[in-house]
Amino acid sequence: MLSVLVLHLIPRFMRFVFSRMRSLLQVSYTSWFLDAFNYAIATNMDVLNLSIGGPDYLDLPFVEKVWEITANNIIMVSAIGNDGPLYGTLNNPADQSDVIGVGGIDYSDHIASFSSRGMSTWEIPHGYGRVKPDVVAYGREIMGSKISTGCKSLSGTSVASPVVAGVVCLLVSIIPENKRKEILNPASMKQALVEGAAKLTGPNMYEQGAGRVDLLESYEILKSYQPRASIFPSVLDYTDCPYSWPFCLQPLYAGAMPVIFNATVLNGMGVIGYVRSPPIWHPSNEEGNLLSIRFTYSEVIWPWTGYLALHMQIKEEGAHFSGVIEGNVTVRVHSPPAQGERAVRTSTCVLKLKLNVVPTPPRSKRVLWDQFHSIKYPPGYIPRDSLDVRNDILDWHGDHLHTNFHIMFNMLRDAGYYIETLGSPLTCFDASQYGTLLMVDLEDEYFQEEIEKLRDDVINTGLGLAVFAEWYNVDTMVKMRFFDDNTRSWWTPVTGGANIPALNDLLAPFGIAFGDKILNGDFSIDDEQSRYASGTDIVRFPRGGYVHSFPFLDSSESGATQNLLLNSGMNKADSPILGLLEVGEGRIAVYGDSNCLDSSHMVTNCYRLLRKILDFTGSNIKDPVLFSKSVKQDMPLYEDDNHLSSRRTDVNFSVYSAVLGKDLICRTDSRFEVWGTKGYNLHIRGRNRKLPGYHVIGLGRGLNSTIDTSNSRRPKFTEKNKGDYFGNRYLGELDVPELVASQWLVPAVIAITGFVLFFSIWRIRQKRRRRRRSMSGRLANL
Ligand SMILES: *[C@@H]1O[C@H](CO)[C@@H](O)[C@H](O)[C@H]1NC(C)=O
Ligand SMILES: *[C@@H]1O[C@H](CO)[C@@H](O)[C@H](O)[C@H]1NC(C)=O
Ligand SMILES: *[C@@H]1O[C@H](CO)[C@@H](O)[C@H](O)[C@H]1NC(C)=O
Ligand SMILES: *[C@@H]1O[C@H](CO)[C@@H](O)[C@H](O)[C@H]1NC(C)=O
Ligand SMILES: *[C@@H]1O[C@H](CO)[C@@H](O)[C@H](O)[C@H]1NC(C)=O
Repeated sequence: MLSVLVLHLIPRFMRFVFSRMRSLLQVSYTSWFLDAFNYAIATNMDVLNLSIGGPDYLDLPFVEKVWEITANNIIMVSAIGNDGPLYGTLNNPADQSDVIGVGGIDYSDHIASFSSRGMSTWEIPHGYGRVKPDVVAYGREIMGSKISTGCKSLSGTSVASPVVAGVVCLLVSIIPENKRKEILNPASMKQALVEGAAKLTGPNMYEQGAGRVDLLESYEILKSYQPRASIFPSVLDYTDCPYSWPFCLQPLYAGAMPVIFNATVLNGMGVIGYVRSPPIWHPSNEEGNLLSIRFTYSEVIWPWTGYLALHMQIKEEGAHFSGVIEGNVTVRVHSPPAQGERAVRTSTCVLKLKLNVVPTPPRSKRVLWDQFHSIKYPPGYIPRDSLDVRNDILDWHGDHLHTNFHIMFNMLRDAGYYIETLGSPLTCFDASQYGTLLMVDLEDEYFQEEIEKLRDDVINTGLGLAVFAEWYNVDTMVKMRFFDDNTRSWWTPVTGGANIPALNDLLAPFGIAFGDKILNGDFSIDDEQSRYASGTDIVRFPRGGYVHSFPFLDSSESGATQNLLLNSGMNKADSPILGLLEVGEGRIAVYGDSNCLDSSHMVTNCYRLLRKILDFTGSNIKDPVLFSKSVKQDMPLYEDDNHLSSRRTDVNFSVYSAVLGKDLICRTDSRFEVWGTKGYNLHIRGRNRKLPGYHVIGLGRGLNSTIDTSNSRRPKFTEKNKGDYFGNRYLGELDVPELVASQWLVPAVIAITGFVLFFSIWRIRQKRRRRRRSMSGRLANL
């Protein structure tokens, strides 16, 4: 008999929502789900539909229990989430590769706007996400039965998921009961679903996965199924746009950061499998040899699934090549013999590649995006970037070019820029290759070596630097604290929207620093209407630079106090928010807000401003408005050291940081030449440094040589003495003052926790309601 467990009406997660009336609306706990899953295992369920989820993929008891479920051969189907159309909004457990994650479409085969979009964010900032959802199914206005009598129509991925669960049940039922054990498992079912799915024209792979679920096609596949392994997606085709977005939008070229494609290995042969020899690249033509490819992959595939990541570079001899490279990647998977068998099960799976290659673009058109210094939720309370957004208090969309910055990515591509991703420290790229290093909304610290190298890169190598910062105000952070009932602990933002003290250290060599105001308001620059949404101000800027100031209200805790003292809530002072500077060979632009580039919660975009900034930093083209005489600084902006914001002393930041207490190392997302090293040497500049292209450091030193940071050529700027403060700034006492209700004022504070839930119908309706009432609080959904 086929048994199906329907888990619903129980939101997995707990969440407090404080509306202005501070009413408690919704609470549920991980432990409830653990109980339900244990029940499913104990009673030998075959299929499990789960219409719940949340962004906390680091909830280990939950994630491990899901592994236990699938390892016990229970096929889990789960809704991908209703946080679309934003990208990087997949919910756990649907984002796990052993779970069948389902997105929603409407009856005209369009992706439902509410359906969460990929990629998975477990892997970033230091790698690349997987394709999800796996499949999509009808999820808008689906008729279902009411609890009382009759029917009603429901929308949400919560309804798309049971549609697939139903498909899975039908597919299970076609396999004779005595054969089920042999061929039916979470991997073979997923193979049948993704290989049978109908690819929709229009949506990309992070929207539709393999496409719309197709019962009959999947039936055909399963009918003659022999246990085997396969790769999903099985094709990466740069000529198939928009399905292969973002890959098809930017061709490969020599000298670029490696492009990473993270595919999933599905192993229908057994719950455990092994990859004993490295995957192999088989080019199908001569040009295929121009591709340099490395693999990182799971050597042990458990439960049922693993990953195979391709790291792709074009060799130097392909620097002028233009055309298409084709071939296959193959990988052999072994599983132990099944019961009654003697031989090890073996299967070779294939991933087909069709890649576009162009000659290396000019330096000025190449932009490098710093992903390395981004920290997102989970693991810590990384707060949102716009404090006006009350229904989404966490920064959890990945802050990646292909998640919440995807529209900016598309825009820059349209404008002729090539944008590469840096997933390793700033020592791991060769500045002579790039027009601009783009640093947006960054939360992490910097190694001393990075600070030194960036100074050198800008001043001596002529690198352009564009920084988009965010708010940072310790008093406000402390006020945003809340008690999380799931972990039974207080949660406080570990940093602001951006890590201003760290950015200030990075920018100190250039005489630039941000302040701790939280500024809001509308303004217009060069006739472009803009909204400054919880941005910061510039408090230091050298003479000779160009600085733009606008009248804004400071809504930070400290600012609010100031406003009270001045006895006027409407005290709008002119605050500097945009600064432009030529320094040495290079150019720098700083701006205090990133919301105008971030597709999540954007009010107005500032893509035009960004393009003008990149024209300046990359090509030294000066826009007459941005560089008008009236904004040139005759005197430097200067704020005393003691007035610059400092780090929190009550937070152990090394728990969240890839810098503090960690070794400086270029990882497998950097150029192959520097994998496992500290990166490009600073010292050789001007002498042995070869242009263009990446070459190992001169002076006969090997790849592993340490960077000598005792750079004696000091730039023209004085730098404050940093000492070894990293050692103790984070190690203070835990002495956050207790909160009382009246302190939850600015901003009206909401608390959430562990799992933020989605749940279709209710949530979508709630969204509308919320918009109307502009109530605070992202409400639990069911
Ligand atoms: C799946 O879950 C949803 C939401 O919890 C529920 O409405 C539906 O009845 C379930 N369906 C099946 C087939 O399990
Ligand atoms: C690919 O995804 C897997 C599974 O999440 C992850 O462990 C691995 O680090 C990723 N690889 C890369 C290069 O991002
Ligand atoms: C690549 O794989 C496809 C499909 O498996 C096969 O038809 C083709 O011959 C292979 N090409 C090469 C060069 O291995
Ligand atoms: C801070 O966290 C790190 C890494 O998690 C740990 O090694 C260290 O002991 C912690 N420091 C304090 C003071 O708790
Ligand atoms: C560089 O480091 C790697 C890994 O630590 C080591 O295997 C290798 O021998 C080192 N190479 C040199 C030249 O020291």
